[in-house]
Amino acid sequence: MDAQQKVFTKPAPVKILEKTKETARITTIKFSLHGISPVPGQFFMVWVPGIDEIPMSVSSIDNTSGIYEISIAAIGDATKALCGKQPGELIGIRGPFGNGFKLDTPEKKICFIGGGVGMACLKPAIDVLVKSRKDMIVVNAARTENELLYHTRFKKDLVISKTYFISTDDGSCGEKCFGHELLLKLIETSKLKIEKIYTCGPELMMKQVFLACKKFKINIEASLERMMRCGNGLCGLCAVDPTGLLVCKDGPIFTLDRLDKLNEFGNYTRDFSGKKLPFKK
Ligand SMILES: Cc1cc2nc3c(=O)[nH]c(=O)nc-3n(C[C@H](O)[C@H](O)[C@H](O)COP(=O)(O)OP(=O)(O)OC[C@H]3O[C@@H](n4cnc5c(N)ncnc54)[C@H](O)[C@@H]3O)c2cc1C
Ligand code: FES
Repeated sequence: MDAQQKVFTKPAPVKILEKTKETARITTIKFSLHGISPVPGQFFMVWVPGIDEIPMSVSSIDNTSGIYEISIAAIGDATKALCGKQPGELIGIRGPFGNGFKLDTPEKKICFIGGGVGMACLKPAIDVLVKSRKDMIVVNAARTENELLYHTRFKKDLVISKTYFISTDDGSCGEKCFGHELLLKLIETSKLKIEKIYTCGPELMMKQVFLACKKFKINIEASLERMMRCGNGLCGLCAVDPTGLLVCKDGPIFTLDRLDKLNEFGNYTRDFSGKKLPFKK
């Protein structure tokens, strides 16, 4: 078994090198792991000793030095325990898994729209394209200013070329609206004719972004989240109706054509027993 295969089947123990408190709820953890080459949009299965193994997008990639980051929103047992870990403590990493974003595309005018911790999945793609793209905009959406992920970094990297837009539910920063509402405004009023959108965030937001893309004939890649156990196509827990496509293997990134066929997209997800859980609209 080569090094890459091993990392698919068994968690590689890694030491936490650094942790950064991004917001009250979100913490970034840095670690080093050699012999893997994740691409933006892929995810790891992260083993939290004694608790669970959970999927986490890679939020920063340096394949030369083998240094990676994940950004975790503390919402349940595993994520809270992960956020509570300190530099020097051990976690386990399997992967990378999933298909990743297609960044080498013909479209020139592109937009990233992330809601809450969904921005973690988009960040490595933004890091790549910010160096090469002139016509790129980023929409960062959160409930309040304090919950805007990577806000300080984006202000520094993106604001110079006026490419950074913000929406908050309570109006504490940027436009007082939901992320997809700001996006619609930008599509309808901006001179920048968006040709491609990358999105990750609450599924109801992504559904609205998808509908806007259909209406205005814009290409889209959206990163979906479903309950996962194996992370690499074996258990079937993350299959989406009615296609049976596996979020862990065929996704997590889905294009417009595929999203259009997924009846459950924006309507319901499933718990660990497979029971349908409708999204609250
Ligand atoms: C491909 C992928 C990438 C992800 N990337 C990130 C990331 O970068 N940062 C981040 O903070 N979170 C990410 N998640 C979500 C993260 O995996 C879940 O929040 C985590 O598994 C919850 O575990 P827990 O034990 O803390 O909470 P639990 O007690 O297990 O669950 C708390 C709540 O989260 C929901 N939940 C549980 N597992 C998932 C899941 N796999 N997907 C969506 N909702 C879930 C439950 O329904 C429940 O409402 C990602 C999920 C997927 C599928
Ligand atoms: S998580 Fe097991 S098949 Fe996707």
